[in-house]
This record gives sequence, structure tokens and C-alpha cells, in this order.
Amino acid sequence: MIVPIKQIINKARQGRYAVGAFNTSNLEITLAIIRAAVKQKSPVIIQTSESAIDYSNLAIIFSIMTTVANTIGRAVPIAIHLDHGKNTKIVRECINIGYNSVHMDASDKDYATNIHLSKTMAKLAHQKKIWIQAELGSILGKEGMVKLETGEINMKDLLTDPYQAEDFVEKTQVDTLAVAVGTIHGHFRGIEKVDQVRLKKISQLVNIPIVLHGGSGLSPQTFKQAIKNGVSVINIDTNLRLAFKKALQNTVAKEGDIVDPRKTLNPATEAMQKEVEKMMRIFGSYNKA
Ligand code: G3H
Ligand code: 13P
Ligand code: ZN
Repeated sequence: MIVPIKQIINKARQGRYAVGAFNTSNLEITLAIIRAAVKQKSPVIIQTSESAIDYSNLAIIFSIMTTVANTIGRAVPIAIHLDHGKNTKIVRECINIGYNSVHMDASDKDYATNIHLSKTMAKLAHQKKIWIQAELGSILGKEGMVKLETGEINMKDLLTDPYQAEDFVEKTQVDTLAVAVGTIHGHFRGIEKVDQVRLKKISQLVNIPIVLHGGSGLSPQTFKQAIKNGVSVINIDTNLRLAFKKALQNTVAKEGDIVDPRKTLNPATEAMQKEVEKMMRIFGSYNKA
């Protein structure tokens, strides 16, 4: 059942576990995420990026998420979130259509502009009684990785400064903060190193829930330590994409004569569900619905 995100995140913070925020862009991923939440009796955040909205259309994907959440997902708390909203037009549209939370990601702008945009959107979100996430520091993606490998970028320069985070939250009045502490968007096992000391310092100085992006590829121990150091929400996307692709390839390779898309997609949907369930157990959100 859709509930205010505040209810889900505050309970996780008090209970010292993290809630997973999983990316969707279609019916199958939405079913996988919500079926996993029901099976694990776990609260869950289901989120769309701007490109997912572009792929599926905002009204359609919002309708899919709310319908699945309020039917098969009615026994568990579910919130709908916009992930990495860089375009203020899309952020406003998500606020207006009924998302429970939006991410105003102006982390690639200068500090003053990031404050201005995050504060402006926070006011708008709060008028609708929903939550806003902002971001400080640079969480790298694939292009950033190339620059890292060629030595053009020093990872440390990109990480969130704890004292700046304290100032940022005070000035913007945002509800949750996405931080750059060494994770990278995508699956980079062995390369990502979470700066746990920095994370702990940020949590001590910033009295709002902390969101860890780029969760795919991190070890269970890293997640558990990050939760101890104050993380309440963990974003996962690539793990589901990998599970989907592997299962789909297996099905097509083994049963190439199948012509029913449902039979091709079912094993892939189940594989994503298993991945979400695995994350919920690591994050400690199971049996918390
Ligand atoms: O952090 C980014 C998310 O994984 C969304 O990626 O823009 O390809 O949908 P996307
Ligand atoms: P991963 O794809 O690395 O799991 O990151 C997801 C994310 O941070 C979405 O905002
Ligand atoms: Zn992210």
C-alpha cells in the first residue's frame, strides 16, 4: 500500500536498518520489486529515473506503480520516488502527479546553485506534504570511471564534505541527503571503496536520513557498516538489470522456440525478485512491514 515515505524512512532510521530504493521502468520490474517486498514482509521504495519516465511515460509508469502497490502490494508499506531529477520541469511534474518523494539532483552545479534549486524544490514538495532528497558531491557513473582510470580525477575531490553537508541541509531544509562517499553507479566490484569514516562524520553533523547511491556491487559487510554509520536508504538498479539479462539469455538459449513473451519474461522477472529479496535481507528490512 502506498504510504508517506516519511513513515518508511523514519522507522528504518529508528530500527537501524536500511530500506532499499529500487529502480523500475516497466511492469515486470515493478512486479519483481513489489512481489519481493510482500514475500519478505519488507517496506520498499520504488523509484523512476528521468530516463525511465522518458521510456515509459510519467502517467503510465506512475499508474503501473500505484496499481501494483495498492493491489498485490497492499500488505506492505511502499513509497514512490523520483531518482536523480535534474530537470526541474520533471521534478514539478512528479510532485504534481502524486510521487511521495522527489530527488532534486543539482550536484553537478556550483554550490550556490545547488542550494538555490534544492531549497526552491523543497518548498514546493513541502507544500504538497511530500519529501525531497538533495545531493552533495559527485557520485560517479561510467564516464567518471574512465576519467578515474586515466588519472584525470582524484576520487577524494568528489566526495561529500561533512561540514559543507551540515551547512547545505540547514540552508535547503531538504528531508534526505544523497552523499558521495566512494560508491559508483553501476557494478564495479572491488573498485568501489566506501569512506566509512566520512559517512559517519556526515551522519553525526547532518540530522536527516542519509541515502547511499550506487549500491550494486558492494559487499554485504560494506552495506552493514554503512547502515551502522547512518545510512537509511540504499539505491539499487544495476543488480536487477544484470539479473534480468542473465535470466533472459538463459531462457532464450535453452528454449529458443518459445514465442510467448510471457514465458520468456517470467524467469527474468523471478530472477529480479530474488535479487531484491536478497538485498532486503542484507539491509535488514525484512519482517519490518
Ligand atoms: O542512478 C541512476 C539509475 O541507475 C538510473 O539509471 O538513467 O539509466 O535509468 P537510468
Ligand atoms: P546502481 O545501479 O549502482 O545500483 O545505482 C543505483 C542508483 O544509485 C540509483 O540512483
Ligand atoms: Zn543514484
